[in-house]
Amino acid sequence: MSHSAEPRPMTAKRSGPLTGTAQVPGDKSISHRALILGAMSVGETRITGLLEGQDVLDTAKAMAAFGAQVERTGPGEWVVNGVGVGGFSEPEGVIDCGNSGTGVRLIMGAMATTPITATFAGDASLSRRPMARVTDPLAEFGACITTREGGRLPITIQGAADPVPLRYRTPVASAQIKSAILLAGLNAPGDTVVIEAEPTRDHSERMLAGFGATITTETTDEGHVITLTGRPELRAQPVAVPRDPSSAAFPVAAALIVPGSEIRVPGVSRNPTRDGLYVTLLEMGADIRFENQREEGGEPVADLVVRHGPLKGVSVPAERAASMIDEFPILSVIAAFAEGATVMNGVAELRVKESDRIDAMARGLEANGVRVEETRDSMTVHGAGSVPGGAVAVTHLDHRIAMSFMVLGLAADAPVSVDDGSPIATSFPDFLPLMQGLGGDLG
Ligand code: S3P
Repeated sequence: MSHSAEPRPMTAKRSGPLTGTAQVPGDKSISHRALILGAMSVGETRITGLLEGQDVLDTAKAMAAFGAQVERTGPGEWVVNGVGVGGFSEPEGVIDCGNSGTGVRLIMGAMATTPITATFAGDASLSRRPMARVTDPLAEFGACITTREGGRLPITIQGAADPVPLRYRTPVASAQIKSAILLAGLNAPGDTVVIEAEPTRDHSERMLAGFGATITTETTDEGHVITLTGRPELRAQPVAVPRDPSSAAFPVAAALIVPGSEIRVPGVSRNPTRDGLYVTLLEMGADIRFENQREEGGEPVADLVVRHGPLKGVSVPAERAASMIDEFPILSVIAAFAEGATVMNGVAELRVKESDRIDAMARGLEANGVRVEETRDSMTVHGAGSVPGGAVAVTHLDHRIAMSFMVLGLAADAPVSVDDGSPIATSFPDFLPLMQGLGGDLG
């Protein structure tokens, strides 16, 4: 997405009780993967509930540039006619992945073992983010890769004509690295193996199996070992995208901290590899019920019923970080309203997200009267039960920073503003009307 548009300041004010139903958008991770796997399959993949945020729209455009037919048939309804594994054609122009680390890393993986050349670019935020974590293993498949200084975008990849499969231990817990390697492994002969020390979100594994690939996961002394057999014929599948637990976290947080609130958030994914925030909130004493637990589109989902109530600070163990990696900004807001300290351990990866999220949250919370301590890989928020507010937070092109401070403002004593809320459109285009519909005073 181009952020050349004017910044869009936003302000949230202390609000009365939030009530009603929050229909949050489709899961971002699954939406990207549905389009990419649809494009790498033979036949017609019908997707419902696709997140129509800018990140995913950029991936849809990229899949069309690589030769798939991608068509929107209704709200959240898309049809992809794929070209099959190894069937990508060379794109005419630069692949612009906008703000999306998931988009660019997964698509680089998907094309790296096909003998075509593509150049990838992104916005100012994405152009600062580390890409060597993905381009290094992709080069081991035989791809020839040129990056800007420091392994950054823009990046040109000449896909391997004769790929070799890879056995790779990921240096950091990252589903994006794992998924890029698995997608590259699709067009390499033999078994590609990814070993992770801690399990990360497993949507790629679930969906690859659903599309007909042979893929296994074992927990051994080495860690979490995922083995994919190369050169399958992926068969087009209907994909019903569940609602995004990371997006649900914003109305959930707002209901927890605005006195008198009670809201319902239906159909949210409860995949255990994404569930860390909800585990943590229950430990903090949050009043959350999980109703109608069921399976939808191969993922466990539930309807969440969330009520305001007292919360206490907790220590979040490092092993849980991967299962809630995108939820630390909003957890730090909730923690500011709890009694006592909330310690977030093992969160160094937050420093290389859409922004340095530890820095962005610490500065914005401090400006609004919250005491925060940080180290390279931890953050501690000292909750005092209430937050003075009254300041502007800087969002650094980061949607989750913008939404977190908007939620803070709904319960702080004085209004809270952000310098630029436009990045919210990357993942949650209807954030403002949805929060206003619950009774939030923000805009
Ligand atoms: C994602 C993985 C996570 C997460 C991102 C989505 C994915 O990134 O932060 O928003 O869809 O695979 P890392 O794998 O780099 O931690």
